[in-house]
Amino acid sequence: MKPDLSIEFVGIKFKNPVFTASGTFGYYGYEVVDLIPLEKLGAIVTKTITLEPRSGNAQPRIAEVTSGMLNTIGLQNIGVKSFVKEPLSNLLKIGSPVIVSVAGSSVNEYVETVKILNLYSGVSAIELNLSCPNLKKKIVCHDLPLMQDVVKSVKKVSNVPIIAKLSPLVTDISELAVMAQSAGADGITLANTYPAMAIDLKTFKSKLSTVKGGLSGACIKPMSVRCVYDAYQDIKIPILGCGGIMTGEDAVEFMLAGATVVSVGSASLVSPENLIKIIDEIEKILKEKNIKSVKEIIGAVNIVKNICQKGL
Ligand SMILES: Cc1cc2nc3c(=O)[nH]c(=O)nc-3n(C[C@H](O)[C@H](O)[C@H](O)COP(=O)(O)O)c2cc1C
Repeated sequence: MKPDLSIEFVGIKFKNPVFTASGTFGYYGYEVVDLIPLEKLGAIVTKTITLEPRSGNAQPRIAEVTSGMLNTIGLQNIGVKSFVKEPLSNLLKIGSPVIVSVAGSSVNEYVETVKILNLYSGVSAIELNLSCPNLKKKIVCHDLPLMQDVVKSVKKVSNVPIIAKLSPLVTDISELAVMAQSAGADGITLANTYPAMAIDLKTFKSKLSTVKGGLSGACIKPMSVRCVYDAYQDIKIPILGCGGIMTGEDAVEFMLAGATVVSVGSASLVSPENLIKIIDEIEKILKEKNIKSVKEIIGAVNIVKNICQKGL
């Protein structure tokens, strides 16, 4: 019998746990409609949208590194008022739930963007990108009162569930996740990219225009799995696991650590077909292990407590 891949996350039922990761799937997603059957995806998470259009950072803003990539796109997007016209209506025609990623430099920017999205039906959830800089150039989720204010204020106005996407660059990811939960988040995405840098030995220049950028891809997976595992111990709301998922095995690993669903970024930049492969591979793994439902593996990592050292 085929294992059941359907799953509930933030109160919504998805056909499987594999989502696209924000910003990594065409410009707004629907451009790749001819490449893969998009309706097979668990959900499509859009590129981050802001209140006003943003042109993003100067080129070069992508660099390949060992087992991963660096990016410094800088939230390039057409702004929410243009987004709700063509991209959103095209995305909603696909038949997979659409989660809109939202960012802002202030509480007001987040709230006003969500208020505009509220006017259009069909959006399943909002993912709050809390990894962008605030007005004082500090990352929003590193400014804890601001992070909580954003989550609380958006929760108050949003018609749909709120997923808080956190930066992994903190001393204690559980503490941050607990704070997002207490501010009213319905779910948490763990995690975004890791600050990193690469230098071109021909020119001695950084490979990115902004010198540093965000590291993603296979090389970050163990760090992101650890974030999910830690937060899962302390929060009650579900986790969307993200970071370096290249195969179905990687996705299962995130779910064993505590993720209810996962999102795939760099692997779909390598080939959008990887998303479909990952769904098929999860099904194969469950079948081989005689597991009837994907729900059974959430947080099912087998920790042998007596050999676990204190503090690990
Ligand atoms: C080119 C590129 C653009 C991205 N743009 C966004 C974005 O707009 N919003 C966001 O929340 N994350 C963005 N991300 C981060 C991804 O959504 C994801 O969290 C990260 O890449 C880790 O997953 P991965 O290792 O599967 O790529 C971007 C990543 C890449 C590589």
